Amino acid sequence: MINFIPLAKPDIGDDEINLVVDTIKSGWLTTGPKVTEFENALSEYLKYDDEIYSLGLNSCTSALFLALLALDVKVGDEVIVPTWTFAATAQVVDWIGAKVVLCDIEEDTLNIDVHKAKKLITDKTKAIIPVHIAGYPCDIQAISDLAKKYNLKVIEDAAHAIGTSYKDKKIGNFSDITCFSFYATKNLAMGEGGAAVSKDKELIEKMRKLSYFGINKEAFKRYEKAGRWYYDIEEIGYKANLDSLHAALGIIQLNKLDKMNKRRRYIASYYRKNLTNKLTFNKDSDEHSHTYHLFPIRLPKNINRDDFIEELKENNIGASVHFIPLHLHTFYKNRSDNNFEVADRVFDTILSIPMCSAMSDEEVEYVVKTINKIVG
Ligand SMILES: Cc1ncc(COP(=O)(O)O)c(C=O)c1O
Repeated sequence: MINFIPLAKPDIGDDEINLVVDTIKSGWLTTGPKVTEFENALSEYLKYDDEIYSLGLNSCTSALFLALLALDVKVGDEVIVPTWTFAATAQVVDWIGAKVVLCDIEEDTLNIDVHKAKKLITDKTKAIIPVHIAGYPCDIQAISDLAKKYNLKVIEDAAHAIGTSYKDKKIGNFSDITCFSFYATKNLAMGEGGAAVSKDKELIEKMRKLSYFGINKEAFKRYEKAGRWYYDIEEIGYKANLDSLHAALGIIQLNKLDKMNKRRRYIASYYRKNLTNKLTFNKDSDEHSHTYHLFPIRLPKNINRDDFIEELKENNIGASVHFIPLHLHTFYKNRSDNNFEVADRVFDTILSIPMCSAMSDEEVEYVVKTINKIVG
């Protein structure tokens, strides 16, 4: 029998291991030259026309939180968040003290429904946080038109979308601030890590300061020979800086990201061609470049999702559900009278099956054969 196939596993090789070891030997473990090298490489990777500025952070959650702070979102403001997302997208808004306004999603992509978002705008709405679910881009054009019309800030939650393109431009080129996750299961994996990017250098430098106690930028140099001992706390900040060991992993992972994303796309196309047509898949299109962080499938109504996941497990296949919509969780349940008709409908039948660039052809074929057998 085949070994357990997890939902995702990192695609780490000798190059990552060697650079992490070299970095440990260098004696500089925290934020330093390796982080700068990663940030510069990320900016270069994402750049289409205008310059992009990057800030390495310890998570995407930190990036989202600091983005709200940098854009001056405050107590009393409202922020529109899709209900179909992970806790992080909304909880950062709660931490700021602003109001989370949950929005329903599109049936085919699971991304925010921009028409429904428009109806949620009030004179208190300050920002919108679209999420590119599974690595397929939101309707960025419609979102930026809406933002322009109603003077909203846009923070993209691109936790799933490093390398995704909207038309021919990579995600990271469009909004006020874009936030990426480099969590262990993500397309670019550091274990824990994230980044914020923007075309606005001042915003990124503001976030950099906020990511280290509001201390002026000389702080990171103070242990170097050229650095000074003096530092000044200019405002209240947080501790969210990226360290050199994770950055070292990121440098190598970024070098091979396109290759890893290509492998994900190959696996997705194999799934699409060979899985039974009794299943429904999320939308893909030639217009954009999907990076398949996840591969969600929707079951026919006669199959119970929980039983199906159990049966996959018995057959050594991992599965999970991305996501339980926020409005169904205890904390968010009674906070909205909005209608989540699409999210409610989709949630009952959906699950994610294994998807990662480190899967072998044999594993991919086994997943297809097993699912087709169970669905019948
Ligand atoms: C949509 C989404 N946003 C944000 C996050 C948070 O990312 P991180 O773990 O890097 O903070 C996740 C994590 O899985 C996510 O799926």
